[in-house]
Amino acid sequence: MKPVKVGLLGLGTVGGGTLKVLSRNAQEISRRAGCDIEVVIAAARDINKPRICDVEGIALTTNPQDVVEHPDVKVVVELIGGEDLARDLVMKAIANGKHVVTANKALIAKHGNEIFAEAQKNGVMVAFEAAVAGGIPIIKAIREGLAGNHVEWLAGIINGTGNFILTEMRDKGRDFADVLAEAQSLGYAEADPTFDVEGIDAAHKLTILASIAFGIPLQFEKVFTEGISNITQEDMSYAEQLGYRIKHLGLARKTAQGVELRVHPTLIPERRLIANVDGVMNAVLVNGDAVGPTLYYGAGAGAEPTASAVVADIVDVVRTLTSDPENRVPHLAFQANSLSDIPILPMGKVETAYYLRMQAEDKPGVLADVTRILGELGISIEALVQKEPSGDAQMATVIMLTHRVLEENMNEAIQKIEALSTITGNVMRIRMEHLS
Ligand code: NDP
Ligand code: HSE
Repeated sequence: MKPVKVGLLGLGTVGGGTLKVLSRNAQEISRRAGCDIEVVIAAARDINKPRICDVEGIALTTNPQDVVEHPDVKVVVELIGGEDLARDLVMKAIANGKHVVTANKALIAKHGNEIFAEAQKNGVMVAFEAAVAGGIPIIKAIREGLAGNHVEWLAGIINGTGNFILTEMRDKGRDFADVLAEAQSLGYAEADPTFDVEGIDAAHKLTILASIAFGIPLQFEKVFTEGISNITQEDMSYAEQLGYRIKHLGLARKTAQGVELRVHPTLIPERRLIANVDGVMNAVLVNGDAVGPTLYYGAGAGAEPTASAVVADIVDVVRTLTSDPENRVPHLAFQANSLSDIPILPMGKVETAYYLRMQAEDKPGVLADVTRILGELGISIEALVQKEPSGDAQMATVIMLTHRVLEENMNEAIQKIEALSTITGNVMRIRMEHLS
């Protein structure tokens, strides 16, 4: 069979990695796909820039439309990033009858419903394994490997940059900004790194995971999102003293009332495997009713780990053109006409446990006031530590771990505690999950 011709949009970290892997492993890839795969055209903003890959023999263009209009290209691989241009190009590629592979989670989380409908209409595939957790084949694992299960919940460290920052801060006491700059130089961070540190990137990925786990449409705008920029070394160290690690977690849970979708820093017991996932590594814990907990671990960002997922998708697409034309797995795992309209819960109705840190006057009755407020709102305390003021300071640091309670009750309690004249500043709140 003749080689299948591919057009690349983007020659940056992931585009460059994809070309390198396609070329280095060409023989094995072709044996798996059923024919050779040939990149014939690639678009970048600056075609004269030095690249991490060999671009000899590939037509280079600064006009991405050349790729989606190319008559010989059967598969368009979108690795430009961003939303508007990427959406436009992907929709055009689909309208032109081309299959699409993308690593763009923002695109899928926000426009996936529309893109998949268009792809179905045009009889082409849209594959997006690299959009979640870099090199970990988590989409395939949930969509295919766990297809027999009722997925109850999943929780993941799904942003490599954020995990890299938290790990370096904790292990080496490094400064937030300094570690972020290193993550950018290593190609881990998004073009706008606030997407990484404020949890937006993780929220994009969680949107996708929840849809394929629960069979619901993509609903990015309903994800509760909190970043890591307020996390201090102090909180990390207090958490460790209490037997926990702070991780930036994406969590999706199906309850009788609806679906919880949330991304926030989370205390996790340090004995859990996922609490020990460090650096740029990602991990996703999926709990299915039949299989129980399963954990998927691997590099969450970077050129070749992400290319590993992109190339796997290209191979899947090419297989439908060679040996296995009828084997198409639904985009969101469930058939498009059987998605469920189960509601996404507002954050106030989510139940979780909490770590609280506050600065309190070191005198009798202060803790009694705080515990009275908590008690009146049905919040029970699991552990309490008071750090005595040092030197002439008048304020003691109080750290509390609570049992599970509705977020709306905790919001009210925090408001009342902060209004006490004996409490200074804001109460630091980090949510806590035992993941058992
Ligand atoms: P880069 O910024 O490294 O690469 C983007 C590429 O797109 C560059 O080659 C750039 O050209 C090209 N490009 C951008 N705009 C245009 C345009 N208007 N016309 C033509 N070419 C254009 O990004 P990444 O490779 O890091 O990310 C690509 C996608 O993969 C994003 O959606 C990202 O979220 C996703 N992703 C990234 C991961 C990572 O670890 N980096 C991991 C998983 C997913 P030029 O080089 O000339 O500037
Ligand atoms: N910026 C993303 C991360 C890239 O750090 O996880 C991988 O999706």
